[in-house]
Amino acid sequence: MIDKRGVTANIGAPRVRLTLAYAGLLFLLLAAFSVIVYGLLSTVVWQDVEPFRDDPAMLAAAHHMLKNYIVRLAIANAAGLVLVVAVSAFLAKITLRPLEQAIALQRQFTNDASHDLRTPLAVIRTETSVALADCGSLPEEYCERIQIIDEQAQRMQRLIDQLITLSHLDADSALDREPTDLRAVVNGVLRDLQPLAAARRMELNLGRAESAVVMGDELKLSQLVGNLVDNAIKHGKEATAIDVSVWQQRDTAFVAVRDAGDGIAASDFERIFQRYQSSNGALHNGVGAVHGLGLPLCRWIARAHGGEVTVSSALGRGSTFTVRLPAMLT
Ligand SMILES: Nc1ncnc2c1ncn2[C@@H]1O[C@H](COP(=O)(O)OP(=O)(O)OP(=O)(O)O)[C@@H](O)[C@H]1O
Ligand SMILES: [Mg+2]
Repeated sequence: MIDKRGVTANIGAPRVRLTLAYAGLLFLLLAAFSVIVYGLLSTVVWQDVEPFRDDPAMLAAAHHMLKNYIVRLAIANAAGLVLVVAVSAFLAKITLRPLEQAIALQRQFTNDASHDLRTPLAVIRTETSVALADCGSLPEEYCERIQIIDEQAQRMQRLIDQLITLSHLDADSALDREPTDLRAVVNGVLRDLQPLAAARRMELNLGRAESAVVMGDELKLSQLVGNLVDNAIKHGKEATAIDVSVWQQRDTAFVAVRDAGDGIAASDFERIFQRYQSSNGALHNGVGAVHGLGLPLCRWIARAHGGEVTVSSALGRGSTFTVRLPAMLT
């Protein structure tokens, strides 16, 4: 079933812009038509007045008549403007309808496919966990392979979660807010991603670890912090440290993720927050695919909480991603 509510929410702004564009065009046509009508009327009036050119009373009457025409045309244009807006809104609606349906179907497909992929992946992860728990009785080489399967399955699970969240975000889904301590969120993320960091011989360090409570959606905030740490692992340099800090300063809660990777060029700072984009120097380090979904999702989640996520980076020296969210004052 097509989610009409979501589609409307998503396409709302383009529809307004298209309505304004149509209205502007139609109104220009209306105004041009009025100018032509006025030109024709004034030609006719001055032709009629021509034989009485020397009669001031006739000239005054002609001027008065033309002034009347201008007023009437202005009133007609004002009434026409209302009609023009109504017609434009209708035209914009029928123009965008096929697009709305295509977007809705695409979103539905992403959502359904992602949900369908979750179950087999969960089975794979259960099986690998059981096998890993039994590692002592298996040859070391097998154990390493199972470990790799488990890590990649975990990465795939995160990607699927990301796709599901994105398809919900497009539908403007509401946040499930409750008081959430970002320190607990950070701790959970570091625990979950420890194996991925270990696979790249990276150290995950918790630096400043202060309580910072926000009114937020814990699951989405975990995704936000998780994506930043995942990026630091995936795009950072092997065998380096990643520092994560969480703190609160007055009415703002902060989470900062700092890596010692190759860094990001300042010209890419904005681009990496767009969907399906990556920075030039950070592609394919063999650890995972570059999808370009993580940071757009981070930005959406931060903004939905009334905050922002920003990056500062120096090429060759690493990057720091900082999340700022309105904190609950205790
Ligand atoms: N810590 C980082 N260091 C260097 N480059 C980074 C870092 N974080 C992000 N990037 C760059 O920004 C791009 C976009 O990141 P984003 O998280 O959106 O996508 P991704 O990591 O490529 O894929 P995924 O959708 O699986 O997260 C990355 O491809 C990478 O080029
Ligand atoms: Mg990412």
